[in-house]
Amino acid sequence: MSGSLQGKAAVVTGGGSGIGLAVAQRLAREKAAVAVFDLDATAAKAAADSIAADGGTAVALAVDVADRDAVDQGMADVRRRLGPVTVLVNNAGKEGFRRLLDISVEEWNRLLAVNLTGTFHCCQAAVPDMVAAGWGRIVNIASSSAHSGQPLMTHYVASKAGVIGFTKALALELGPQGITVNTIPPGFIDTPMTRRNEARGRLGGTVDEHAARTPVRRAGTPEDIAATCAFLASDEAGYITGQVIGVNGGRNT
Ligand SMILES: NC(=O)c1ccc[n+]([C@@H]2O[C@H](COP(=O)([O-])OP(=O)(O)OC[C@H]3O[C@@H](n4cnc5c(N)ncnc54)[C@H](O)[C@@H]3O)[C@@H](O)[C@H]2O)c1
Repeated sequence: MSGSLQGKAAVVTGGGSGIGLAVAQRLAREKAAVAVFDLDATAAKAAADSIAADGGTAVALAVDVADRDAVDQGMADVRRRLGPVTVLVNNAGKEGFRRLLDISVEEWNRLLAVNLTGTFHCCQAAVPDMVAAGWGRIVNIASSSAHSGQPLMTHYVASKAGVIGFTKALALELGPQGITVNTIPPGFIDTPMTRRNEARGRLGGTVDEHAARTPVRRAGTPEDIAATCAFLASDEAGYITGQVIGVNGGRNT
C-alpha cells in the first residue's frame, strides 16, 4: 500500500504521542503530507521532525482541538502550506477516571469539549476542502469502552459513544460527495496514556496481565491502529463508510 496517499494533505490530531504519532508516521509513509496538531507543541514538533528524518513531509502545529479559533487557524495554515486537507484523523483525546458524583461540571465539559466537540470542530474546518475535491477520508478514534462501558469513566465513555454516533450520521451525510467517515474504537493499546494509567493503578492490573487475558495474547500497538487508518484513508476503502472497525485483539467482539 506504500504511496497510496501521494499528493494528499492529512491532518492528525493528537499526533504528538502514542496512537496519533504512529498514525502520522504511517500516513507520511503512504506519501501524504502530514500536519500534526497537538496541544503539546514540543511533541508535535518532535513528531514532524521524525517524519522529516524518515524522508516524509510534515508540519507541526500547536492546536487545542477544543478551541474553535485555533482549529480554524490551524486548518487554514495547513491549507496554505500543504494544500487542501482531504484526510483527517481525529485522534486527540483526554481520559478521566472519577466516580460520577465526584466529576465536576468543568471536568465533564472539558472532556466532552476535547473528545467530542473537538472532532466536530475539525470536521467542520476540513470538510469544505473534501467537498471541493469530491474526495475525502475521515477516521475518528473512539474507544472500545463505548461498547463495553467502563467504571469511573462516565464522561469519557459518553464522549466516545458520541464520536461513534457522530461518525455514523456524518457518513450518511457525506457519502454522496465521495467522503467516507469511519471510526476505530481501539482496545487496550500500549501507549504513554496506557502506561500512565498503569502507573496510577487505574487499569485493574498491569499491561502484561491484560495482554495475557487478551485473545491474541498481546497488547495492541499504535501501529495496529495506524495500519487500519492507512487502509481506511486509501482509495481501496472507498466502499467502507459509517463503520465501527474494532481493533482490539478480540477483547470486544
Ligand atoms: N491507548 C488506548 O488503549 C486507547 C484505548 C481506547 C481509545 N484510545 C484513544 O486513542 C486516542 C489516543 O490515545 P493515546 O493512548 O495515544 O494517548 P496519548 O496520551 O499517548 O496521546 C494523546 C495525544 O493527544 C494530545 N492531546 C490531548 N488533548 C488534546 C487537545 N485538546 N488538542 C490537541 N491534542 C491533544 C496529547 O498532547 C497527546 O499527544 C485518544 O483519543 C484515546 O482516548 C486509546
